[in-house]
Amino acid sequence: MSVAVAGLAVLGAWAATIGFVRTESVSAEAPREAEVADAIEGAPAPEALPFVSDRTPLGLVDAPRFPADATDRTSAERFELGRDLFFDPVLSADRSVSCASCHRPEYGYADSVPRSLGIHGLETTRNTPSLLNRGWGRHFMWDGRFVKLEDQVLDPIANEREMGLPLEEAVVRLADEPRYRERFATAYPEGVTEQTLGRSLAAFVARLRIGDSPIDRFQAAQGLLTPEQRAGLWIYESKGRCWKCHSGPNLTDEAFHNTGVGVVDGVPVEGRFAVTGDERDRGGIKTPTLRGLEWTAPYMHDGSLATLEDVVDFYRRGGGANAHLDPDIEPLELTDDDARHLVAFLRALSREAQ
Ligand code: HEC
Ligand code: HEC
Repeated sequence: MSVAVAGLAVLGAWAATIGFVRTESVSAEAPREAEVADAIEGAPAPEALPFVSDRTPLGLVDAPRFPADATDRTSAERFELGRDLFFDPVLSADRSVSCASCHRPEYGYADSVPRSLGIHGLETTRNTPSLLNRGWGRHFMWDGRFVKLEDQVLDPIANEREMGLPLEEAVVRLADEPRYRERFATAYPEGVTEQTLGRSLAAFVARLRIGDSPIDRFQAAQGLLTPEQRAGLWIYESKGRCWKCHSGPNLTDEAFHNTGVGVVDGVPVEGRFAVTGDERDRGGIKTPTLRGLEWTAPYMHDGSLATLEDVVDFYRRGGGANAHLDPDIEPLELTDDDARHLVAFLRALSREAQ
């Protein structure tokens, strides 16, 4: 038995509690990535863009699939249409802003500043989240106000602080451009509509994927961790309590918790309350994935924490005190070494550059 396989056996106990790891036995020769049946028919290799893949990466094979069109088998035409629209400022009122202006490929499809600039230089009200692995999402936006990716991707187009183009106008505009009209007609029998615009953008976004990290390889008995990463993994699972919310293959429960980010004088942000109207949801923000953090600073829904060290310090202090604080957030007894190891673990969850 190799050292890595011995490590996997030890890990079995904690993995079972959080459902993070595959249960099938894995040989040292197992392929690094598992193929799944949602390959894009006839599409050229998309390696020109980072993180674009039509394969389910190692680590996410057992993740529950998002049932909508976005991750179903899709044609090359639909995917490529969505990809080209994502980078095309044609979807903003004055043709100055594209999705990629804020969701920048080199920053894990997030932005590098706390708030992004939309049309007319207006600032977004929240931090631009990463789009990696959103094909496995169940709620979209920090307050989860969308439950389908196809619907979410239309929102920024009409949003007055982002792209400022009413959807009816977007559809007319695309239908007026011969290159898009023809491509939509080939991809969808109904041609350009709000729905097909949403579906094509979602087909692209759902293929921004990250996995196959050193942590995934370690758990599949295909790689080793450094002692620091290994120690960090244990803290994540034990006294760090991170797994309580950042659980499952994508390291998120896709649920809402009040960690106290953005609290002012003990008053939490609105968060999920704005969607449900339920007092208990005040300050509730969707748990983000912990994958790809290497590229997506600054962190949190308001971009208030600049580094992963700052994030760990925030949790060590017990978050931001307020009456609605999640019961799973309390001051942590972590040594400085523990904190360092936790950061090493978080970094190891970002796939190494290809
Ligand atoms: C001006 C900056 C900006 C532009 C342009 C923009 N976004 Fe976003 N995007 C954001 C911000 C900010 C949020 C979070 C908003 C919130 O939670 O209230 C977000 C959220 C999202 C989410 C939800 C992610 C999650 O984890 O819940 C998706 C998906 C998304 N955007 C896709 C797109 C697409 C597709 C386009 C182009 C049609 C686009 N965005 C254009 C800033 C932008
Ligand atoms: C009670 C649930 C809960 C626990 C426990 C928890 N988190 Fe979080 N985490 C969240 C939520 C919710 C957010 C988003 C908060 C916000 O933006 O206001 C978040 C945000 C983050 C972010 C920022 C990610 C980004 O893309 O901006 C990191 C990093 C993070 N958590 C790491 C950890 C670590 C490390 C631990 C353990 C020490 C931990 N979390 C424990 C719920 C939790």
